Amino acid sequence: FKIAVLISGGGSNLQSIIDTISTSKAEYEISCVIADRECYGIERAENNHIETKIFDRKILKKDISKKIDEYLGDRVDLVVLAGFLSILDENFINNRRGRIINIHPSLLPKFGGPGMFGIRIHKAVIEAKENESGCTVHYVDAGVDTGEIIEQRKVKVEAEDTAETLQKKVLMEEHKLLPKAISLLVKKLS
Ligand code: GRF
Repeated sequence: FKIAVLISGGGSNLQSIIDTISTSKAEYEISCVIADRECYGIERAENNHIETKIFDRKILKKDISKKIDEYLGDRVDLVVLAGFLSILDENFINNRRGRIINIHPSLLPKFGGPGMFGIRIHKAVIEAKENESGCTVHYVDAGVDTGEIIEQRKVKVEAEDTAETLQKKVLMEEHKLLPKAISLLVKKLS
C-alpha cells in the first residue's frame, strides 16, 4: 500500500508518519512527498530518502492539480494532504474519490472553509471563547474542509491559552491522529 504526502510547510505531520512507519510494523510506505513550494518538509523527506517533487504553485497556477495528477498516475493508493495549501480541482478529486484525506486543525465543521488556515483558526477559536478545540481528518471532496469526517481528537481550551499555545497543543494531537487515520484507511482500502 503506497501513499503520497502533499505538504506546503514545516512538515511535522509528515514527520509523524515517517516516525510511525519506522517504529511500528506499518503496512504502507510513503511513495513520494509533493510540495507546492520550497519548504522544510521537503528536507525532512530527503533526510529519509523519500522521493520528493515540487510543483511550484506560482508558476503552474491552475494547472497544478493536473500536473500532480499526471505525476501520481496510479502509483499511490492514498493521497494525504498534510498542511497542503493549494486547492485541488474537481478532476483531481473525482479521479481519486475516497482516496484523498486532509488534516485540519479544528473540530470541523467548526472553523473550516476558505481562508481558515494556520494561526487564524486558533485566533478564531479563542475569540469565540470555545472551551474545546482539536483536529479532524476528513475525506476531501469538492468543497474546502467539507468532506466526510473520518476521525477527530479534542483538546481543552484553557483560560490562559493564546492562539499560539493552542496551535501547539492541537499540533501535538494532529501527530497522533494522522498516523492513526492512515492506518485505518490502509486496512479499509487494501
Ligand atoms: C497543520 O496544523 C495542519 O493541520 C494544517 O497545517 C499545519 C501543517 O503543519 N493543515 P506541518 O507542516 O505538518 O508541521
